[in-house]
Amino acid sequence: MDYKLIDLNIHGDNRGKLIALESNKDVPFEIKRIYWIYDTLPNEERGHHSHPNMKQLVVAMDGSCEFELDDGYSKVNITLNRPDLGLYIGKNIWRVMKNFSYGCKLMVLASDYYDESEYIRNYDKFLNEVKNA
Ligand code: TYD
Repeated sequence: MDYKLIDLNIHGDNRGKLIALESNKDVPFEIKRIYWIYDTLPNEERGHHSHPNMKQLVVAMDGSCEFELDDGYSKVNITLNRPDLGLYIGKNIWRVMKNFSYGCKLMVLASDYYDESEYIRNYDKFLNEVKNA
């Protein structure tokens, strides 16, 4: 499955810590969009979609949440709970985000601009897409 957990490079000293991400270096694509998710609730799931063309890197800036990734053949569960851990998600991966801690803050870097028509929000359509790819 095209996903990867990336330990992000921390520039720390006695004043605190800093992490910097650059396109095509720390992040394995050119970043075209950044968005963040906050005011999350433990009983609410998000995601339930895939992207045929878009790659993303997700960081839990605060709190924790679980990602269920599915490439149509197998599934993995990943917990994001550190601001120095990036989850890279490649194309054609169905993702469900759940078990958010109260107030978890997720930052998402994306390889493309927002385009609702690029989303696959139907699981059977997703399976069709990956089996015929
Ligand atoms: P949605 O895709 O439901 O979020 P999630 O992936 O967390 O389940 O997006 C929520 C709303 O925000 C929806 O109306 C689309 C809008 N949106 C944008 O306008 N731009 C964006 O870059 C994103 C990711 C979402």
